[in-house]
Amino acid sequence: MAPSPPHSSTDPRWTTLTGAIRPRERNRDQPITLRKVIQAEPDILQKSNAAVTFHSLLTCGDAGTGVGVGTRWPGGGRYAVSMTATVGTCCPSGARRLAAMYKLLFTVLFRHVDPETAHHLGFGLIRLAGRVPGLSLLLSRWLVPRDDALRVRTLGFEVPGPLGLAAGFDKDALGPDALGLLGFGHVEVGTLTAGPQPGNPRPRLFRLTGDRALINRMGFNNAGAAAAARRLERRRARADRRGRRLVVTGVNIGKTKIVPEAEATEDYVTSARLLAGVADYLVVNVSSPNTPGLRDLQAVEKLRPLLAGVRAALDSAGPHRVPLLVKIAPDLDDADIDAVADLALDLALDGIVATNTTVTRGGLRTDAATVEALGAGGLSGAPLRDRSLEVLRRLRSRVGDRLVLVASGGIETPEDAWQRILAGATLVQAYTAFIYHGPLWPRRLQTGLARLARDAGFATVQEAVGTGVTPDPR
Ligand SMILES: Cc1cc2nc3c(=O)[nH]c(=O)nc-3n(C[C@H](O)[C@H](O)[C@H](O)COP(=O)(O)O)c2cc1C
Repeated sequence: MAPSPPHSSTDPRWTTLTGAIRPRERNRDQPITLRKVIQAEPDILQKSNAAVTFHSLLTCGDAGTGVGVGTRWPGGGRYAVSMTATVGTCCPSGARRLAAMYKLLFTVLFRHVDPETAHHLGFGLIRLAGRVPGLSLLLSRWLVPRDDALRVRTLGFEVPGPLGLAAGFDKDALGPDALGLLGFGHVEVGTLTAGPQPGNPRPRLFRLTGDRALINRMGFNNAGAAAAARRLERRRARADRRGRRLVVTGVNIGKTKIVPEAEATEDYVTSARLLAGVADYLVVNVSSPNTPGLRDLQAVEKLRPLLAGVRAALDSAGPHRVPLLVKIAPDLDDADIDAVADLALDLALDGIVATNTTVTRGGLRTDAATVEALGAGGLSGAPLRDRSLEVLRRLRSRVGDRLVLVASGGIETPEDAWQRILAGATLVQAYTAFIYHGPLWPRRLQTGLARLARDAGFATVQEAVGTGVTPDPR
C-alpha cells in the first residue's frame, strides 16, 4: 500500500523535494517523475534509483505537495518520500486553458457573485455544453473515465468510476447527463419532496473560502417529485429513441416542509411512488439540518415505519427492484449510528449514504464571528472530512459488506477518496470540492484514485473496498 504522508519531518525516511517539471514530462495522465531532483537530495535519496510518483491534486501552474515511493538502490528496500513540486506544464494545452478559465470564473463569480446565482450560472453552462453535440462528445471522451481499474459494479448497475455528484447540486433533475459528461459516474438528484416548495429565503448559501467549505440552509427548494419524475421519464424516452446511454441517476427524497411529522411516511411514500420508475436507486434523506424536525426521523422508532413504507411502495410500483438507501447525518452519536445500521440490515435495505452536512462549526479557519453571522445551516467540504470518515468506518465495522456504503463529506483529493474506499465505501460522492476545483476535478480525482489503487497492488478500486477496516467481532 502507498505510504501515508509523514507526521514528523524529523523522520529520516522523509525529505522534501523541490523542482519544476520538464516540458517532456508533460503528460496529462502519467505520473510526474522527479528523477533529477531526487539525485540532488541528501543521503537517503542519493542512493535511490527511483522515479517518484506524484499523486497530489494540482492545477497547472500550482505548487503542491504529494506522496511518492522511491526504491532504494542497492538493496531493494522501499522508501517513502514526501515532496513539493511546481507543476507548470503538467496538462495538455486544452486542459490548461480550461483550468485557467475556471480559475478566472472562480475569481470573478465566486468572489463577487452570490453563491446561489453562481451555482445557477455554472450549472446552466454545463447543461448548455451538454446540448452541443460535438462538444458533449469531446467532453465525454476526455473526462469520462475509461480505465477498467475504476469501473464499479454495485446496486445492480455499473459505473465508469466510483465518484458521483452528491445530492443537492441538481435538485430538480435538470441535467444529470450533462454532469455525467464531466466524469461523474453517478449523479444523485434531489432532494425532491412530494409537494413543490420554495425553500428558505435567500441568501441561504455561503462560502467559507479559507476552509474550502460551504454553509447552506437551502431547505429543499424544488419543483416537486412529480415534475422531476416527468422530466426523467422524457429523458429516458429520448435516450431510448436515440440509443444513448444515461448516467446512473440516484433519486434523493425528503419530507415536504409543511407536512407534519406524523404524516411523514405518507409524504415519502408519495415521492417514492412517483419516482420509482425513473430512479436507478433511491435515497431516503432524513439528515438535512434545514427542514425543522427532519433529523428526528433518524430515531429508529420513527425510521422503521418510514423505510418499511418506502420499501413497500417501491416494490409495488413496478417489476424492477429499486435499491433503497438511507442518508445519515455526521452528528449522530455512536449508538445511533449503530442503531440505524442494524435497522438497515433488518429491513434489508441496500445501503447507507454517510454523511450529510454537519451543524457543528469546529476547527474552522474562518473567524468565529464571521461564521456565527452567517447563521444556521449545514457545513460541507474539507472540515467535514474526518467526521464523515469516522462515521463510515463505524458503519463498515458494524455491517461489513452486507450493505453498500456510499461515502460523502469532505472528499477533495484522490487520497481522501482512497481512504473512503479502504474504509468500506463502494461509491464516493462530493459536492463542495466540485465547486472549489471545477469541471476537470472529477477526472483528476479519479485518475489519481486509479493510480493509488495500482500502487497499493490492487487491479481495481472495487477490490480494495473495506480492506482497511477490521470487522467488529460481534
Ligand atoms: C448547497 C448544498 C445543497 C445540498 N442539498 C442537499 C440535498 O438537497 N439533499 C441531500 O441529501 N444533501 C444535500 N447536500 C449535502 C451533500 O449532498 C453532501 O452530502 C454534503 O455536502 C457533504 O459532501 P461535500 O463535503 O462533498 O459537499 C447539499 C450540500 C450543499 C453544499
